[in-house]
Amino acid sequence: MIILGIETSCDETGCAILQKRGNRITILSNVVASSAKLQAKYGGIIPEQAAREQITSIIPVTEQALNEARITNKELSAIAVTQGPGLIGSLLVGVETAKTLALAWKKPLIAVNHLLGHFYANWIAKSRRFETPTFPCIGLLVSGGHTDLVLFQDHDTYKYLGGTRDDAAGECFDKCARLLDLPYPGGPPISQLAQKGDSAVFSLPRPMIGSGDFDFSFSGLKTAVANLLHTLQESKSTWRVKYDLAAAIEQAIVDVLIDKTIKAALKYKVKNIMVAGGVAANEKLRAALEKSCKLKTVSCKLFIPPAYLCTDNGAMIAAAAFFHTAVLDPLKLQADPNLSLY
Ligand code: KG4
Ligand code: ZN
Repeated sequence: MIILGIETSCDETGCAILQKRGNRITILSNVVASSAKLQAKYGGIIPEQAAREQITSIIPVTEQALNEARITNKELSAIAVTQGPGLIGSLLVGVETAKTLALAWKKPLIAVNHLLGHFYANWIAKSRRFETPTFPCIGLLVSGGHTDLVLFQDHDTYKYLGGTRDDAAGECFDKCARLLDLPYPGGPPISQLAQKGDSAVFSLPRPMIGSGDFDFSFSGLKTAVANLLHTLQESKSTWRVKYDLAAAIEQAIVDVLIDKTIKAALKYKVKNIMVAGGVAANEKLRAALEKSCKLKTVSCKLFIPPAYLCTDNGAMIAAAAFFHTAVLDPLKLQADPNLSLY
């Protein structure tokens, strides 16, 4: 089976072609065009502008994906597309393109939930000896819009355990970066600066760490950073302060994510943990999770995609479609900005 995956939920235009042979899913091509640099000028995403960039990119990116995979549309078994959640203008570009291609090329059309798609980056083979998660499994989704803990019993049975009550972890990185005059998206520059900083210099809260449930809250952390910057006055612009503050922000976010993920694994007695979403690209989070999973009391197998498959891409959408094969009438599929997973 060969599937073309199309992802346009936000500011990335992703088209990828994946092949499944037996249990092994491999990437034949994976092309991503991003308008993040353009959005960075304005400190965040302007939905109208993101949608316009999607329109400009979608056809060239699809053509490039076919060329790089060295296949023609005739060899495709199906077309998969992100139906939602996301920005409606951006989603519409991918959904309408996929519908048109499915009709023109006479291919089945598979709609994929973007959040579920993120988890399936863990099913893409990266090397010869490659393992995939087994069920039951705890899933941590950490992206710009979501921070969710999910208990997967199998591909079709999953339960929402908890999530953020306000800002997502990625959103917290982005907003704190803005407070520190760092570019958008804020996760990568904060983690870069944090490497030179000492996380113990500033004390920041670990919101909801002892709440006894699997919910998160990150808006208070952002407010704590804003208040701290206010008290620091002129010194807040020095690089030393920025390094230490970046390290403290990153550590606070990582501590809460690890605490709740491990508690979920212990409570539900699972031996597999998978992480997904843009924040999963964070080196500190990856290293800390690896360490925690190796603890004798935890002893879990950890699955995290390589960084390039953590942020939005078409490969994860195609990968999800191999397991969620319900085919839709192309004329009936509607983009849904509020599509729910749970
Ligand atoms: O999954 P994603 O690409 O898009 C959404 O579906 O939201 O996630 C984007 C988020 C942004 O908030 C970005 O700052 C964050 O992922 N991010 C990171 C890193 N790379 C991307 N956060 C922390 N560390 C990183 N290395
Ligand atoms: Zn995403």
